[in-house]
Amino acid sequence: MESSRRHFLACAGASVSGLLLHKNGYAAALDLFQGTPPAPTKIQALTRTLDINGKAATVLGLLQKNGTQGLETVVNQPFQVVLENKLTEPTAIHWHGLHPPNNEDGVPGVTQPVIRPNESSFFNFPVIPAGTHWMHSHEGFQEVRLLSAPLIVHDSAEQAADVQQVVVMFGDFSFTPPSEIYAKLRAPKKDMAAMGKMASKPDANDVNYDAYIANDRTLADPEVVRVEKSGRVRLRLINGSSGTNYFVDLGSLTGELIATDGMPVKPIRASRFPLAIAQRIDLMVQVPPSGGAFPILALREASSEQTGILLATAGAPIKRLPVQASTPTGLLTLDQESQLSAVTPLSPKPADQTSVLRLQGNMAKYQWMINDVVFNVNNPGAEKSQVRVKMGQRVALKFVNETPMSHPMHLHGHTFQVLEINGRPLQGPLRDTILVPGNASVTVAFDANNPGLWFVHCHIIWHLEAGMAALVKYEA
Ligand code: C2O
Ligand code: CU
Repeated sequence: MESSRRHFLACAGASVSGLLLHKNGYAAALDLFQGTPPAPTKIQALTRTLDINGKAATVLGLLQKNGTQGLETVVNQPFQVVLENKLTEPTAIHWHGLHPPNNEDGVPGVTQPVIRPNESSFFNFPVIPAGTHWMHSHEGFQEVRLLSAPLIVHDSAEQAADVQQVVVMFGDFSFTPPSEIYAKLRAPKKDMAAMGKMASKPDANDVNYDAYIANDRTLADPEVVRVEKSGRVRLRLINGSSGTNYFVDLGSLTGELIATDGMPVKPIRASRFPLAIAQRIDLMVQVPPSGGAFPILALREASSEQTGILLATAGAPIKRLPVQASTPTGLLTLDQESQLSAVTPLSPKPADQTSVLRLQGNMAKYQWMINDVVFNVNNPGAEKSQVRVKMGQRVALKFVNETPMSHPMHLHGHTFQVLEINGRPLQGPLRDTILVPGNASVTVAFDANNPGLWFVHCHIIWHLEAGMAALVKYEA
């Protein structure tokens, strides 16, 4: 396995083990913080080859010249990135979690044009907010083909802490081209028997993928991260899947949840944490003094597949973990969400306006809607904006899910606070992506402080493509 992995890597001309937060990246980020003048970082969108359960998989990727995936930087520094398109198709990259000016948000047709093959685009804006974020294509189905990577924004306060940082990006992968997967989802459901079957299936997982991955590897050949006995580890976990929610499971360890979508929360302790599509969590864990090997798993929602990495102290025996767990999981809920509260909540004031976004679906046609509109994601500029806001307003968005399936709803360019779950008020966490479970309602609020035209959409890519999106438009 190891030699075939190396062979694939040689073919791809890039290193999958060059992930973030190996000493160099972090040291470089700290240098940056200490005032070394930053030079623009070049990131290339390119094709690479992974080894998925012993088979070569051609996927896309976002790599620096030295093979590092994605980017690490420091808050308030200029985000100076040259994005070079080495693909044979146009692309556009969205900085998920950052608050760039609207015209650098990377949404083709809404905020800027695509980057054509062999062309580059230069980005330059102050990096906010700090936290665990990610970057991914917003063009077509490229995100399904793994055109995504971590985007870690350090905070100056971290420097003092003697904590090892470990970034894990979870994903899902299929050998079937995404256009075929989508065509199958949209194929007319002719007979009533098929309809009945659809209606009675558990309301999760429109797509069964071939593999579930953590830092591009399955549990057949997982990444093993060396940790110290009694060491403290900050896990920065990203769900970069195109269609899979997970429960993060720490096994025998417990962890402290300290941030949601990069934003600090009052710590809560648990060993299992829901992680919906596009969300991030930061967990602090303590390695026991006796050492050992500790799987950090992501368990697929409402099924038994699992993926993950291992934290292991020197010499600890590593046991092979199955890609299928013995017991299936259930559906993600907001039970843990309702216990969370932001360290720095929004200032207390009532919303200047509340917009209701009704989430709807037509299963027979596989169409997804917001407020009865099937959004045309391929011509988004033509759509009427649904939420009109003014600079300086406190804006509440009430998501009312009229479907039995959950939807991870993401707002671009802003951070919101979760203020109500099923009619129950709370001073919840800050986020940019909230899971709205089937038939539930969730209200979030944000301060309108970043003018432009912003996407708000379901982050299940199949639902986005099939129309579950709207726009937030700033008016003069
Ligand atoms: Cu993470 Cu519109 O995207
Ligand atoms: Cu959805």
